[in-house]
Amino acid sequence: MLTLGIETSCDETSCAVLDGKDRILSNVVSSSLARHRPFGGVVPEIASRHCLEQIGAVYREALRRSSVRPSDLELIAVTQGPGLIGSLLVGVCFAKALSYGLRVPLAAVNHLEAHLAACFIGEKVPETFVGLLVSGGHTSLSYHRGRRIRMLGSTVDDAAGEAFDKVAKLMGLGYPGGPVIEKTALRGDRKAFRFTKPKQDNRFDFSFSGIKTAVLYEVQKHRFGLRGGKVSGTRTEKIDLHGAAAAAPLPERFVCDMAASFQSAVVDWLVEKTLAAAEFKRVSDVAVGGGVSANQALRHALGRSAQAKGVRVLFPQRPLALDNAAMIARRGIELCMAGRKKASLRLAALPNLKMA
Ligand code: KG4
Ligand code: ZN
Repeated sequence: MLTLGIETSCDETSCAVLDGKDRILSNVVSSSLARHRPFGGVVPEIASRHCLEQIGAVYREALRRSSVRPSDLELIAVTQGPGLIGSLLVGVCFAKALSYGLRVPLAAVNHLEAHLAACFIGEKVPETFVGLLVSGGHTSLSYHRGRRIRMLGSTVDDAAGEAFDKVAKLMGLGYPGGPVIEKTALRGDRKAFRFTKPKQDNRFDFSFSGIKTAVLYEVQKHRFGLRGGKVSGTRTEKIDLHGAAAAAPLPERFVCDMAASFQSAVVDWLVEKTLAAAEFKRVSDVAVGGGVSANQALRHALGRSAQAKGVRVLFPQRPLALDNAAMIARRGIELCMAGRKKASLRLAALPNLKMA
């Protein structure tokens, strides 16, 4: 089934062509990241304008690279949500126009489910598995059995990727935080700082805002000699990231050690909860998706700990970890093969769409 995938949920504009569920013929991604950097985060208006400017060219390039003609397409899969409404609308409107013009059926795809589906490109999908989703806007654990998805837990405050972004920002490392923290952590001592593990009523929920505040206190102590109390991983309060980042640069040793300690704490929590969820649901497969799944420390730690418990962990190939349209096409094909009703031209973009 020749499928066109379209992804415009945030700051990327992407189109991909898949021949069946496992063969990627093209996957073109145009990112507006550089335009958001001066603002320290994604500016929704800039993101949606970029999608609008890029979508036509990205679509034509995806077809050109795959040597597929528009009339060859058999399915169009588009991100319906969650995401930024302006960006989502660009993809949804473009997909509807193509579907109408080419008389090709339309599949509405949940971006979060697509992140997990990216793990299974070229792999057999197990009967049951636990999904760990770690992106810039979402963090959750879910249980998958055939077509059914049950949420086990999610973050009660910041998402994992958001925590990387905020901690990088308050140490003046720039945006996005994940890749730069990962790189900086390589030169640091992960035992230099210790963080208290947050406690949740639901053991599969996450919380990352406390560790962000704890990092801020350490940064302030270092900068201004403030006497912080005990560094706590459970406190949540509004913090001034701009103010913290605007001050003089921090010593390199401090930044490297903090990056390593922060990353190590987040990875430990993710590994512990994910394996507890796998044990609780008695599954032998775990799929990890979302931008943070590109992180090598997470890949190694989860891979190692899971192997010791006889659990297989699947990660997407690194280029498929970040937002891209190949994962959207893949999920669209899965839905189509499972007999899910095709979307109509009334399809609406849903910024708050949930996984289950
Ligand atoms: O899935 P994604 O591309 O977009 C959303 O759907 O949100 O995830 C983006 C997030 C950002 O917060 C970014 O800092 C994080 O993924 N990220 C990483 C890494 N690469 C991207 N976090 C940790 N380590 C990385 N190597
Ligand atoms: Zn994403």
